[in-house]
Amino acid sequence: MDIRIYDTPAEIGEAAGKIFADLIRSKPDAKLGLATGASPVPTYQYLIGEYERGNLSFRGVSAYNLDEYCDLPKNDRNSYYTFMRENLFDHVDIDPANTHIPDGNAADIEKECREYDRLIEEIGGVDLQILGIGTDGHIGFNEPGDSFAPGTFKIKLHDSTIESNSIYFKNGDMPRYALTMGIGTIMSAKKIVIIATGASKAEAVKAMIEGEVSPACPASILQTHPDVTVFLDRAAAGLLTGEK
Ligand code: GLP
Repeated sequence: MDIRIYDTPAEIGEAAGKIFADLIRSKPDAKLGLATGASPVPTYQYLIGEYERGNLSFRGVSAYNLDEYCDLPKNDRNSYYTFMRENLFDHVDIDPANTHIPDGNAADIEKECREYDRLIEEIGGVDLQILGIGTDGHIGFNEPGDSFAPGTFKIKLHDSTIESNSIYFKNGDMPRYALTMGIGTIMSAKKIVIIATGASKAEAVKAMIEGEVSPACPASILQTHPDVTVFLDRAAAGLLTGEK
């Protein structure tokens, strides 16, 4: 793992954003794996800036999101569909037909999961995946458990995730279930960038980088991926000893 430590989220956004921008310039039909949450937002802001400055076009780019809540209308203000529109898609020239997010309201969830996996298999895995990490070490919505999930599946969210994410649901309960790419799907990415900032992520970051590879910390699997860059601020890196 290539670990890089910065002072501010904005600096991380620029550094991670440059990796995305360079890829898109060298491969205009790049396949991007995208994430929600606060962590990738500065990266998206850098990319929007590059588009506005005329330095970047998303015309040929395709996007594949990690996850989506179940039982939440697609256009709800807290859906990941809305998040992606507000934080990236509506501000650049990506073709909406090339943006993919699993449908958490599909009538046949199993079929939806298999089709989402097939979509990603057909492109041979995304070229570049951006990830955040949950305080419990989850990536996408792969919560700690007994095994690493191979493909996209429906998960019951853990209490700690519900606690962290319910701050966004001001007018009521947040969903208890979500669809998420499995660990196998995420690991099929050719290159992975993961971002964590703030002291609340320090324990999960330590387990991801210096703990044993175990489904008890889903992000620890990234130790076995050949091309992972970890972007941290000093607080998130605060418990690392550098011993692994
Ligand atoms: C959610 C998302 C994850 C994200 C995590 C951390 O649970 N499903 O993909 O990484 O939250 O979010 P944040 O970046 O806001 O801390």
